[in-house]
Amino acid sequence: MSILVTGGAGYIGSHMVDLLRRTRNEVVIIDDLRTGHRAALPEGVPWLNADVADRARVVPFLKRYGVDAIFHFAALIQVAESMIEPRRYYVGNLAAGVALLESALDAGVTTFVLSSTAAVYGVPSAPLLTEDHPVRPINVYGETKLALERVLASYAAAYGLRYAALRYFNAAGADPEAGLGERHEPESHLVPIVLEAALGRRRHVTIFGDEYPTPDGTCVRDYIHVKDLCDAHVAARAYLDAGGESGAFNLGTGRGYSVREVIEAARRVSGRDVSVIVGPRRPGDPPTLVASPTKAETAFGWRAERSALDRIVTDAWRWHSRVP
Ligand code: UFG
Repeated sequence: MSILVTGGAGYIGSHMVDLLRRTRNEVVIIDDLRTGHRAALPEGVPWLNADVADRARVVPFLKRYGVDAIFHFAALIQVAESMIEPRRYYVGNLAAGVALLESALDAGVTTFVLSSTAAVYGVPSAPLLTEDHPVRPINVYGETKLALERVLASYAAAYGLRYAALRYFNAAGADPEAGLGERHEPESHLVPIVLEAALGRRRHVTIFGDEYPTPDGTCVRDYIHVKDLCDAHVAARAYLDAGGESGAFNLGTGRGYSVREVIEAARRVSGRDVSVIVGPRRPGDPPTLVASPTKAETAFGWRAERSALDRIVTDAWRWHSRVP
């Protein structure tokens, strides 16, 4: 029995592979290195260099390694790009996800954990988002993740597949001891951008709007440590194995921080200056996105334990300041 991690060379997937190896789980990877990094792939872990949609190669791989659970991280993740090139997102996230599910059913996989997103909710109508908040995505990225969640729900009802759609809020942080961290090209995420500015690798951080209806006028997000996200996957799998009901679960902390608070944390942690300019709003940014994590905490017996902002920024800084 083993676990397939798709996107195992990517940011969150590589942390997941590391955790599974350290806890002595059999793990295999599918990643075509489209956005993942070769250097993040550990020696000795079976790796298929293929698109997750390539059923002719994926099904034999699943059977060969006796995969019974899939943690599906591989996806396109840029909100702005998804509006300009929606077909890439429908093909890369939705069609590829359905193809992977087909392979999973053909190969007898019983459990599927999807990396979903808070982007399924759209603009919140409550300060804390619970899973029964209406889902009205305002970008194509969120649409594709929500559509795949719905396919999963239908397949679970019809074919007995067990699943958890884990709706991540803002993943951040790193595992410097394992040599793993966050690197996207181009980088669009706040924490790495702020740290690059602290390191002098960029001139400044542009705050996308400071007149939002929030305490300091900048957007508020619920940042969750990447290692807490990985722990939640293990806990979700155990919950499903114990007969827990399939469904969607928020992964967050219940506490939000503004863009300015993240920048302050980076100054504190790094001891360096971060110069800031204020620019226009970024289309598609809700003012506030904060999770109610109660459902996942209760079902999985899990909590985000490493997600205090300074801890996240400290771990990310230790990794960032080491990579060339
Ligand atoms: N921000 C800036 N300047 C920057 C980058 C970001 O001000 O240079 C702001 C954004 O406007 C936002 C906050 O910092 O208010 C966080 O932005 P990120 O790009 O780091 O993260 P998002 O909240 O936009 O995105 C996250 C996930 C997406 C998911 C989205 C909605 O990364 O995958 O939440 O749930 F789609």
